[in-house]
Amino acid sequence: MVERIEEIEVEAQAAVEAADSAAELEEVRVRYLGRKAELTGMLRGIADLPPEQRGPVGSTGNKVRKGLEGLIEAKVEALRNAELEQSLAGDRIDVTLPGSPARAVGHLHPITRTRRLIEDVMIGLGYQVMEGPEVEHDYYNFTALNHPEGHPARMLQDTFYVDTDEHVEQVLLRTHTSPMQVRAMESAPPPLFMIVPGKTYRRDSDATHSPMFHQVEGLAVGEGITLADLKGTLLAMLREIFGPDREIRMRPHFFPFTEPSVEFDVSCFRCGGSGSLEDGSRCGLCKGIGWIELGGAGMVDPNVFGFVADSGYDPDSVTGFAFGFGIERIAMLQHNVGDLRLFFDNDLRMLEQFS
Ligand code: PHE
Repeated sequence: MVERIEEIEVEAQAAVEAADSAAELEEVRVRYLGRKAELTGMLRGIADLPPEQRGPVGSTGNKVRKGLEGLIEAKVEALRNAELEQSLAGDRIDVTLPGSPARAVGHLHPITRTRRLIEDVMIGLGYQVMEGPEVEHDYYNFTALNHPEGHPARMLQDTFYVDTDEHVEQVLLRTHTSPMQVRAMESAPPPLFMIVPGKTYRRDSDATHSPMFHQVEGLAVGEGITLADLKGTLLAMLREIFGPDREIRMRPHFFPFTEPSVEFDVSCFRCGGSGSLEDGSRCGLCKGIGWIELGGAGMVDPNVFGFVADSGYDPDSVTGFAFGFGIERIAMLQHNVGDLRLFFDNDLRMLEQFS
């Protein structure tokens, strides 16, 4: 019987060795050490054995039993460690850690920053900010803005037309934000005070022109609004942007949709408007003129009100002013950037200077 116990020991050791999961190991334990196991039965039956066999069977049996218990316990521990190791290796991504390598937080594009500055200033003056379509009807971009048939701005070489089968030369990329003057008046009765920042498109490309650029339109309509109000508004806006010492001037100009029309300039913030620097040399920013040209403006032409008379804009009772200028031009002046195209080349060495 002692021999049989030794056979069981060898068999059980091999089974423990072969088990490679906790479940399998438990099965082995039940098979060799459980209540119905052969060894357990032998130990339980010791009393029935002839006296001379009781000692050897009892001691061998108990020794084997203890040995197997220790072996199984050690194997359980080893399996548990291996499982942990495996799950750690497979679960290596810790989503709570920062990305690798950590990315610096970006910042707004300089054109966006300048646009927001202008918006803030104009909201402070009581204007609302509106947006409109970049793909526009000829009607809003030209016709309702009093551009006569055959106006040069309508020519193919100046304007990007969108080819649609039904509307040949009637749909285009807006060449200015002024079409929103008409759309805004169609959408709400006077008094109206609004600005429109947005993208505009022209077939131009050089250091100070890009086929896509940004404008801000301004429109104020009500009773008794005059050119003096226009001048005061532009002055307030430009002093916020370029400093409290700035002056402005308006020069006669022509736009089809304003009458009278002006171009407006701001006094040079480098030379203070004198045209020359402290050492007596000519100011490079304003080229010795003392003024920097910024945009166009004027009193809304009564013909334009005529297109929106049904929306409450009676040309005989309301007046208003409008202005428009390029955001890039303002940003170039703010940051002393010489080539407008640099804003859109997406060269980080350029853009990161504005962080
Ligand atoms: N839309 C004109 C331009 O792009 C500027 C302008 C706006 C002029 C409003 C007068 C009034 O040149």
